[in-house]
Amino acid sequence: KRRIGVLTSGGDAPGMNGAVRAVVRMAIHSGCEAYAVYEGYEGLVNGGNMIRQVHWEDVRGWLSRGGTLIGSARCMTFRERAGRLRAAKNMVLRGIDALVVCGGDGSLTGADVFRAEWPGLLEELIKSGELTAHQVEPYKQLNIVGLVGSIDNDMSGTDATIGCYSSLTRICDAIDDVFDTAFSHQRGFVVEVMGRHCGWLALMSAISTGADWLFIPEMPPKDGWEDEMCNVITKVGTITCPKSPIMKCANPLCNQNRKERGKRRTIVIVAEGAQDRQLNKISSSTIKDILTQRLGLDTRTTVLGHTQRGGAACAYDRWLSTLQGVEAVRAVLEMNAQSPSPVITIRENKIMRTPLMDAVKETQDVTQKIHDKDFAAAMTLRDAEFKE
Ligand code: F6P
Repeated sequence: KRRIGVLTSGGDAPGMNGAVRAVVRMAIHSGCEAYAVYEGYEGLVNGGNMIRQVHWEDVRGWLSRGGTLIGSARCMTFRERAGRLRAAKNMVLRGIDALVVCGGDGSLTGADVFRAEWPGLLEELIKSGELTAHQVEPYKQLNIVGLVGSIDNDMSGTDATIGCYSSLTRICDAIDDVFDTAFSHQRGFVVEVMGRHCGWLALMSAISTGADWLFIPEMPPKDGWEDEMCNVITKVGTITCPKSPIMKCANPLCNQNRKERGKRRTIVIVAEGAQDRQLNKISSSTIKDILTQRLGLDTRTTVLGHTQRGGAACAYDRWLSTLQGVEAVRAVLEMNAQSPSPVITIRENKIMRTPLMDAVKETQDVTQKIHDKDFAAAMTLRDAEFKE
């Protein structure tokens, strides 16, 4: 029987458990044995009890559980060849020659490096006497398949990563809650959301909650954004009112300021990776100070933090992780030595296989374009229309 390993790596994401469940059950359904590798690549490097066979009923009830039940780690040892040698040895000793890795682009790149080195790692293990040629013989080919698990939705080549819609839902719920208290006190709130270098969570939550202003890394605001933000928030074309820092309404028939018009709450969303055109970080406290000082708006900041990452997966992530987990096992069974490692993606609602390193390269290109201050190109690579 073939043995397929599954691990989760990098930041946990809702839906990772659904992915593991689907891989385990599809592997068993296809006549294979399934093995869970605990604590990400650390389990592969350490072996022993950290690699365990998993049966059908072991993953019962996992669809609705948050986080990752087999653990995750940002493993430094696996980044070194010595760590990968130990991992290769453990895999051969356990008879595992296929791995499904659910993680972000860094974790998936690590998996591809491992696959590329595989024959060399085995030869080295034979040379050093740690394994015999006979032991290694059945495991000449290593199959790796990636599943993108990340709340950030920052991987190119796929419309959605496992976890991003759960996180988005949680962010929207939190902003709705903040709205209530903002309304009560007629306050402004600057809400900082996760996403690392990607503005997807910030952009989608801003649209979904009707926020007043937004900052994302891919499209830094034009110079003078402070004035523009204040204008939009007050809805007037100028901020030079002699009487009050709180402006009069833009509507020529209306002579009221924003509070009198009934606008009792203001929400600005800032992605954690937001920056200006000189690539200086735009922080939530900077924005808060601007709103307070220029508009006299009583403003608070809320950093949503890891509540965005924990908790049960939403229906979409349960569905996506299940379909992609099934497809990952199919891909493992259909691969040959020549096939590039695939990553399972979703495009226009279809589950697909994409060459893993193409997707990783395109993802890194976006970061490079931002670094080069070519923001239009970054937005295009993110499949977004760019408009000044
Ligand atoms: O990649 C997921 C993510 O939650 C990012 O949005 C965030 O920048 C990062 O991980 C936080 O990592 P950690 O949990 O290690 O602090």
